Amino acid sequence: MNEVVNAIGTAGPAEIISAEGLTMVYSSKNKVRALNDVSLIVKKGEFVSVRGPSGSGKSTFLNILGCLDVPTKGTLSIDGVDTSKLNDNELARIRREKIGFIFQSFNLLPILNAVENVELPMENMDIKREQRRERAMKLLHMVGLKDRWDHRPKELSGGENQRVAIARALANSPSILLADEPTGNLDSKTGKGIMNLLKDLNKNLGTTVIVVTHDISVAKRADRQLFMEDGRVQDRTHEVSVSEGLNKALNLSKDICKKLSRAGYHDVGAILKLDEGQLKMVKGLRKKEIDNILSKVKRYNMGSEGPAVT
Ligand SMILES: Nc1ncnc2c1ncn2[C@@H]1O[C@H](COP(=O)(O)OP(=O)(O)O)[C@@H](O)[C@H]1O
Ligand SMILES: [Mg+2]
Repeated sequence: MNEVVNAIGTAGPAEIISAEGLTMVYSSKNKVRALNDVSLIVKKGEFVSVRGPSGSGKSTFLNILGCLDVPTKGTLSIDGVDTSKLNDNELARIRREKIGFIFQSFNLLPILNAVENVELPMENMDIKREQRRERAMKLLHMVGLKDRWDHRPKELSGGENQRVAIARALANSPSILLADEPTGNLDSKTGKGIMNLLKDLNKNLGTTVIVVTHDISVAKRADRQLFMEDGRVQDRTHEVSVSEGLNKALNLSKDICKKLSRAGYHDVGAILKLDEGQLKMVKGLRKKEIDNILSKVKRYNMGSEGPAVT
């Protein structure tokens, strides 16, 4: 508990988050279905990115995964615990012990300095004052801010404040870090530094990370890339890798890659073997696109003595 580095170690196949049929309907003036029948399994140690237009339900989704909100429908298990059976106190405990939140606007208390902000989540835990301070200092050291420990938020830059917020999120050694557009208020270079830090924490501590971001270069570095639209979630991990692989090899458009990927053709080798008949079975592919694929495959096969198609 008091160790800063509480490596989960065996980042095996175990599920840390298991969500089924999550639906969230806000019933203010108009009913808004912000989340629509979303199911997701996240394994321990995964780094997941979530993209999508504004209003597509990303924050709603993250808040529900973090037990800040209760869905209208559906079930959510965190580390094997079915949260639908928990009362408010028990939910608060899961949040405190298992989950760390990072927000776009840092949400630090302005009257506290960096180390006091980091100590805050440990107040309700059974940890002595000196140990809290020691741990908070270690965490600040880990995020590269040891010599800023006595600065208040207004005496720190945006990137530094986000580092304090990350240290605070790690205070109780959560197994899951949820970040809602953590680089949204930062310039791109500072934002990259924050993403690198999250990647490092994911790798070194084994912490599962789910990050909502508009930045495609950030999203691409994730193990899994989710995309939200109108309250629904798609896994686009394959599509992006297909798109990159095919672009290098065959120079096919993103649109074509997407259609091929959705039909289950994820790698160049498989696509090189497709004949016209099989391509006609791919949903949404037009005749012109099929001709395009066939001509590029032909050119590739003629031109390359390179990777043999097996
Ligand atoms: N507390 C709320 N009450 C009513 N509607 C809400 C509430 N929070 C979000 N919404 C609506 O739900 C939809 C999804 O919002 P949100 O999850 O914040 O999207 P995103 O984070 O992708 O921008 C939006 O249409 C938004 O207006
Ligand atoms: Mg949002």
